[in-house]
Amino acid sequence: MERKEIIERLKEGSPEELFKEADRVRKTYLDDEVHIRGIIEFSNYCCRSCLYCGLRRENENIRRYRMLPDEIIKLANEITQCGVKTIVLQSGDDFGFSQKVLCRIIEKIKEENPEIAITLSIGERPLDDYKAFKDVGADRYLLKHETANLKLYERFHPGQTLKRRLQILEYLKKLDYQIGAGNIVGLPNQTLEDLADDILLMKRLDVDMAGIGPFISQKDTPLRNHPSGNLDLTLKVLALTRIVTKYTHLPATTALSTLNPTYGQVLAFRSGANVIMPDFTPEEERKNYIIYDNKTRVDLEKAKTIILEAGRKISTARGDSLKWKRHQKAFASI
Ligand code: 5AD
Repeated sequence: MERKEIIERLKEGSPEELFKEADRVRKTYLDDEVHIRGIIEFSNYCCRSCLYCGLRRENENIRRYRMLPDEIIKLANEITQCGVKTIVLQSGDDFGFSQKVLCRIIEKIKEENPEIAITLSIGERPLDDYKAFKDVGADRYLLKHETANLKLYERFHPGQTLKRRLQILEYLKKLDYQIGAGNIVGLPNQTLEDLADDILLMKRLDVDMAGIGPFISQKDTPLRNHPSGNLDLTLKVLALTRIVTKYTHLPATTALSTLNPTYGQVLAFRSGANVIMPDFTPEEERKNYIIYDNKTRVDLEKAKTIILEAGRKISTARGDSLKWKRHQKAFASI
């Protein structure tokens, strides 16, 4: 699909046809199974200053926490015992967790649960760290590009560049990680052209996963007064990403559920999504992981209910990227 057509479709007044089309593409490439990824938000320390995010280092209104390595490992084991086959380790960009400590955590989780996949979502680090994490068993890496608009990127991420973000994603791919990017829909001054560029960028990067969610304001950030993103527009971006990128794993994000607790995620499943990421962070910590305000609690039970409500099946597989699997096979045959 050309940029012009993507923009036209983002403008469509009644997007039902677009959602149905995305749903057909999803069914063709990925069938009806929904993959569950269990997320542990193990630290809310962050050295960045992203203008939209409540974890930004300038925010003094949240209590900062770091879970202990043993707590993280124990929780990962419990998640595995629930039948969940992917553990997502997420945190702010926290250098309080050294390469060595993170490697020990990854290694131990893999040693005790060899059948599961580990996804890291821990931001920008020295390249050497990514290699070390892969060597001890990390399988996937989420690093949302947030916005493909260079000017907006630099405005919302003081001290960071889109160029670096993309270099890291390319490097992660070279290391043979399954990679995830993704954007925020509804940032101040973001245009439909920018959203089309987000979709085309994810296509160009040939991502295995993409997290697409609406902007939701957080009261302790500079964007506190900006209105939240629009549900239909977010679903349109999701649907078009499905149509353009085909096999990609696309979560029905918690941000969509926060925007519309009753229908947000079910609608996402009907518009191209095939993944859900229930939160396993212990209550004490979770209440301080305030990326944005009023974050909905999507636990395992709720995730399963939503999958069934959307008329879909709960996958029992690890849910690796099909693109990545094909690539592995091609290599094995050389
Ligand atoms: N609204 C929506 N998404 C946000 N994120 C951070 N802050 C917000 C916000 N206010 C998203 C970013 C980040 C992910 C962990 O959370 O996309 O990559």
